[in-house]
Amino acid sequence: MRILICGGAGFIGSHFTRIRLREHGDRVTVLDKLTYAGREENLRDLAGDPAFNFIHAAIEDAEAVHAAIESAGAEAIVNFAAETHVDRSISSSQDFVATNIVGTSVLLDAALAHKLRYVQVSTDEVYGSIEQGTFTEDSPLAPSSPYSASKAAADLLVQSYACTHGLSASIARGSNNYGPYQYPEKLIPLMVLNAMHGQRLPVYGDGLQVRNWIHVTDFARAIACVLMEGAPGEVYNAGGPDECPNIQVVRRIIELTGAGEDLIEHVRDRPGHDRRYSLSSGRVKELGWEPQVRFAEGIAETVGWYRDNEWWWQPIRSGEYLDYYERQYGSALR
Ligand code: NAD
Ligand code: TYD
Repeated sequence: MRILICGGAGFIGSHFTRIRLREHGDRVTVLDKLTYAGREENLRDLAGDPAFNFIHAAIEDAEAVHAAIESAGAEAIVNFAAETHVDRSISSSQDFVATNIVGTSVLLDAALAHKLRYVQVSTDEVYGSIEQGTFTEDSPLAPSSPYSASKAAADLLVQSYACTHGLSASIARGSNNYGPYQYPEKLIPLMVLNAMHGQRLPVYGDGLQVRNWIHVTDFARAIACVLMEGAPGEVYNAGGPDECPNIQVVRRIIELTGAGEDLIEHVRDRPGHDRRYSLSSGRVKELGWEPQVRFAEGIAETVGWYRDNEWWWQPIRSGEYLDYYERQYGSALR
């Protein structure tokens, strides 16, 4: 298949790109704006592969998107491109609206014009928080943060294009991903790198918020399943096999890095913080998908990856990230 992967230089998109090239023999063009979160380093091992091409552009740029579809000879678009961090969306939501909503509408128009298959990568956060039980694809959308609201808006646009225009578009909603190449603003890589450096570990509120962890390669394979087998207009949830309160995740990282528990610092809670996410995956399992990585094994492998790949995170920890870190945590951790 010839695929245009938008946002393929980010965390999940880079794993998906690698899997499609190496395991499916696809021809892949990645289109990415290379924001602070998008890094060509994430695709370093694919550079020079004749089946791989990279285009530096934004999804909200309709001309660039059309040109990319033409040059890729694309049969499908898979859209990972997004502003993705809840805390940044609380500080300012403008980029989230521009990329996640406007950008998605540009891609949908382009997919329609070129008669392409379309997969939107989305998140369990569109359902909001659930105290007990688990969200299904029929649960109502009740996003809490500007990030999740913008993702929910994009999902509704995708479904409207399937319904109104007959676009062959499906949505894959994942739970919290973890694994190699995740930008260290997110819980797990932030805690791993801070623990490795003997820096304090900022736990929001009581740390008893629960997340449903899925290894990034498992989510990438679920998206591949939805691309190939998913029905138009349909949503597919992909939840990981394990749920865990944040404080237990942090304690496990402390054990794996050999850091001290005294590094834990409870800081002011995130406004509007969702207490728990939990996602049922029955529908995508019917397409033949099963998660392969349990959290106990995946977290150890992930800590090992960060330990062994200083080349990847060292430039981040000396750049834009430092400004962000100071804005987000400065006064609380000083
Ligand atoms: P990420 O922040 O690591 O990567 C996002 C990528 O999109 C980057 O490469 C960035 O440069 C690119 N991008 C941003 N704005 C762009 C624009 N306007 N045009 C083109 N490219 C742009 O994100 P991620 O964690 O890999 O998430 C990918 C997708 O999966 C997102 O849509 C996200 O909502 C969804 N998702 C993430 C998780 C998670 O736990 N990380 C879970 C479920 C779903
Ligand atoms: P995050 O990785 O931002 O993902 P999401 O908000 O999409 O779930 O956060 C995961 C959980 O960890 C969430 O409950 C917020 C919490 N958290 C902290 O306690 N401290 C931190 O420094 C960060 C980044 C997150």
